[in-house]
Amino acid sequence: MSTSAVEIQARTLAGYADASRLRQVQDRDWVLDQVTGAPESLIDLGSGIGQLLQEALERFPSLRRAVGLERSEHRIAEAAARLQPYGERVALHRADLTVPEPLPFRADLITQTSVLHWLYPDEERIFAWAAAHLAPGGRFLLTTYHPARDERGLGGEDELVRDALVTLGTPYDEVPGLLERAGVLPIATRTRTVDELAAVVGPHLAVAGHLERDAVVTVDGAAQYEHFHAATFGDYYSRAVPAQQRPAFFRAVGESAWRRQQERGHVSHMPVRLWQLTSR
Ligand SMILES: C[S@@+](CC[C@H](N)C(=O)[O-])C[C@H]1O[C@@H](n2cnc3c(N)ncnc32)[C@H](O)[C@@H]1O
Repeated sequence: MSTSAVEIQARTLAGYADASRLRQVQDRDWVLDQVTGAPESLIDLGSGIGQLLQEALERFPSLRRAVGLERSEHRIAEAAARLQPYGERVALHRADLTVPEPLPFRADLITQTSVLHWLYPDEERIFAWAAAHLAPGGRFLLTTYHPARDERGLGGEDELVRDALVTLGTPYDEVPGLLERAGVLPIATRTRTVDELAAVVGPHLAVAGHLERDAVVTVDGAAQYEHFHAATFGDYYSRAVPAQQRPAFFRAVGESAWRRQQERGHVSHMPVRLWQLTSR
């Protein structure tokens, strides 16, 4: 059986520039709006396709060094093409942030948007790393998502995935077991509560302040959400279904989102927190 276009998209995390307009790109501007002064160095953790780095380079001519750390080679390649005009002001490194390696300098600014839940349960390591890589007076600006979590640990994107799996024939109550057997930890379990995170941050960094917003996702059709899911979550969830059902799975996620849009006026909404962290 040939691989469908949406499966290829999910495998390569393609189409993120377009998909991220629905949610993640708003974090980029929100975070950069908090930057004061004239930073000379920036490290973006989980830099994706380089959108935050690009915007920061445009906004802050003072930036002499903008470094992105990212796990996905597809995303690094897309970021490298996007950032090529900025020459030696930019460096991109392949990195696994659950086992972060030291860099030979400290940064005025460290950023991380829409990434922390992927580091669960090892988030503490990135806070220890950031504490060791912040220049005196520097700040670590971080966004975290907080979907409501049900008694089985599901919430946010898990709910759309559950709808899709039910459409494909899995009884509602059996969805958590199916995900567990496939090694898929629900995203609402990965996203710790604010209090849990404060306890993880506390030993390494001080919380200088925070902001909060409600991230509301709306779509104009099922196909738009199908592509958002593939570009954002890749094959994380789809691996829980047999290969021949995957195109139908992505389609069903899109249809579930569109049903919610029509019933509620949005697909989802959840609080997002912007943490302003400094050295202790
Ligand atoms: C939702 S995207 C956010 C990208 C970008 N920060 C933004 O706000 O648009 C999550 C990013 O984190 C990266 N990522 C996930 N786990 C990672 C890990 N362990 N190490 C490095 N990068 C990781 C993914 O490859 C992806 O690019």
